[in-house]
Amino acid sequence: MGNIVEFKNVNKKFGKSTIIKNASFCIKRNAICGFIGPNGAGKTTIIKLLLGIIPKTDGEIKIMIDDNKTNQTDSLSSIGTIVSGPAYYGNLNAYQNIKIVANMKNIDLTDKQIEDYLELVGLDNIANKKVSHFSMGMKQRLAIACSLIGDPQFLIWDEPINGLDPTGIIEIRNLMTKLHQTRNVTFLISSHILSELDKIVDKIILINKGSIVYNGTAEELLEKYQCATLEEAYMNCMQNVEG
Ligand SMILES: Nc1ncnc2c1ncn2[C@@H]1O[C@H](COP(=O)(O)OP(=O)(O)OP(=O)(O)O)[C@@H](O)[C@H]1O
Ligand SMILES: [Mg+2]
Repeated sequence: MGNIVEFKNVNKKFGKSTIIKNASFCIKRNAICGFIGPNGAGKTTIIKLLLGIIPKTDGEIKIMIDDNKTNQTDSLSSIGTIVSGPAYYGNLNAYQNIKIVANMKNIDLTDKQIEDYLELVGLDNIANKKVSHFSMGMKQRLAIACSLIGDPQFLIWDEPINGLDPTGIIEIRNLMTKLHQTRNVTFLISSHILSELDKIVDKIILINKGSIVYNGTAEELLEKYQCATLEEAYMNCMQNVEG
């Protein structure tokens, strides 16, 4: 299985501060990769660099969805994203939000297909409610639905389960498993909810102060620190790098 992402020796400066420091990692196709690290470590910045939302200072960033889409620009149409919290049109309802995002992706959805997306994230019963009146978890569910439009091969979700209730978290976990198993979807998920990531990820990228401090399988990370949970391994690894 080839790599879907190759991130090599990337630096990102904001003004005089180097925020991302010589970061390198790869993600294999069909991986479920957890992206973890403290607040301000650089997760959202790396996601923005990956998607070309902000320019790198130097280094090499490759996204190769498949043999036909081997560069970042071509790959973008096959990537579903949530970046830095849910984005939505507050004055429109959930149904209209799905429709407008589909239009922007040049995808014509039938009413039934829109209802299916809303049902997938448990919003079918409030399809006509104005999104500015949604709770945080409901907005997050809508963002997840929007990211799924067009059946992308790669989902990059920045803190997708923030604000979700326990049922929502389980439903999204099951949805991920289904997309992974039935459509070989690759995931990059940043989250601070390590107990949840522990249940779903096979690979971990850990970033601290702009440097990648671990990049490997979840299993090896647990083994390295002789821990039973990702939470414990994270704490040990952080203690190690912070000295
Ligand atoms: N546009 C910007 N200009 C200057 N500094 C920035 C900018 N965007 C991000 N930063 C800085 O880059 C660092 C990394 O921020 P980033 O949002 O990537 O962290 P994060 O790992 O996503 O944190 P969190 O877990 O809180 O979401 C922070 O110190 C932040 O202040
Ligand atoms: Mg962030």
